[in-house]
Amino acid sequence: MKKFYIETYGCQMNVYDSQLVKKILKDNGWQETQDFRQADLLLVNTCAVREHAEERVRGRLGLFKTVKRERPTVKVGLLGCMGQRLKDQLLEQEPVLDFVMGPDTYRRLPAVLDELEHGIKNKVVDVKLDKTEMYDDILPDRDEESKVTTFVTITRGCDNMCAFCIVPFTRGRERSKDPRLIIQEIEDALSNGYKEVMLLGQNVDKYHYQDVDFARLLDMVASIDPTLRVRFLTSYPQDLKNEVLETMARHENIARNIHLPVQSGSNHILEVMRRGYTREWYLDRIKAIREIVPDCAIGTDIITGFCTETEEDHHQTLELMEQVQFDYAFMFKYSQRPNTYAARNLPDDVPEDVKLRRLNEIIELQNKHSYQSNKRDKGKTFKVLAEKTSRRSEKQILGRNSQGKVIIFEGDKNLIGKYVDIEVYDFTQATLLGRLKK
Ligand code: 5AD
Ligand code: SF4
Repeated sequence: MKKFYIETYGCQMNVYDSQLVKKILKDNGWQETQDFRQADLLLVNTCAVREHAEERVRGRLGLFKTVKRERPTVKVGLLGCMGQRLKDQLLEQEPVLDFVMGPDTYRRLPAVLDELEHGIKNKVVDVKLDKTEMYDDILPDRDEESKVTTFVTITRGCDNMCAFCIVPFTRGRERSKDPRLIIQEIEDALSNGYKEVMLLGQNVDKYHYQDVDFARLLDMVASIDPTLRVRFLTSYPQDLKNEVLETMARHENIARNIHLPVQSGSNHILEVMRRGYTREWYLDRIKAIREIVPDCAIGTDIITGFCTETEEDHHQTLELMEQVQFDYAFMFKYSQRPNTYAARNLPDDVPEDVKLRRLNEIIELQNKHSYQSNKRDKGKTFKVLAEKTSRRSEKQILGRNSQGKVIIFEGDKNLIGKYVDIEVYDFTQATLLGRLKK
């Protein structure tokens, strides 16, 4: 049997897509290998969101080049957002590549491999975006390390057009998956022993299939089984509705966690970013979350040094962080992406050292807030879903509470996949330490 090797970069949507790719290949007679030296086909599923993500992929291609030098019959393919962005240019820049495919063309992978195999084509670029492709008839080849938690992509693409963002160009128009298929997919995961599902979309709040909106979908998914824990990612401030929060409040098994990227605390920057909401609107959404789902953890994404950002704008971001006290945050320096609105119309005018200093200030403040958030949990008892043994020791189990926080506790491996009551006795900025409650 021919063997393939695949590496995945970027977001959870890419992890899910790689599972689709694996399924497609396995259905066509391929076998997966974890050792790239053994593989007849090397794949890398890529991200284009920041320049750094692309640099890492180019580094990996360098390694694949050495493999190909030893075994020239090996085929190398680049999949995903970077492929969609750079198309044929990539074949010129990276001669090691035999083919390039975008996020909407994976169905054609066997045909592309056939064409290359039989010499019908020498190189292939297949990157057509498809307004309807949801891979409806393909169940992913689930391969999560833990076998406890799994992903289901409910929307693909994004129509928001934030000024800084490449995603609308790499993933195309927004579309939603038939709720019946989502439920079938989750039932399949449950029958395979999974306990937790993460519903994925660039903006889950825009989910919409006939008369089913996101609140309704959440209700349907949470009703499948009370022991199934339901997570979702990512929410969008402008579109997050109270009905979603009310649905969360009604179902104990919907995880108490909302990831709500703010990007900036300054109205001026939010406008330049074309985010479509103000700081006041964002704070109102935070207030609604706290009122309707009081025990909900809130996380965010922040970009520093976006076009025209002043010291005053930066201070407003810090101030908003103080006000909200996020439980966690992902923080980035602005990285200009070709063809976005910002690249075409706005000056990337914050010097690199200023971006970095502002980023460090933001990280430092967030570290303080993450620490305080964990400190508030000391002494509390949580219902924890045990996921896997910790890296440090076989006797330590890693699990998550409903808020999504990682809790490490001593316990037996056979607890994995079960809910356990864990009392938090200590913490660091990154994790909670707990013990089994007798
Ligand atoms: N530069 C820096 N960060 C970015 N993000 C998206 N585009 C860029 C960019 N051009 C960040 C945003 C988004 C997260 C997934 O990545 O914060 O929410
Ligand atoms: Fe990266 Fe965005 Fe593509 Fe995900 S959707 S892989 S974050 S560019």
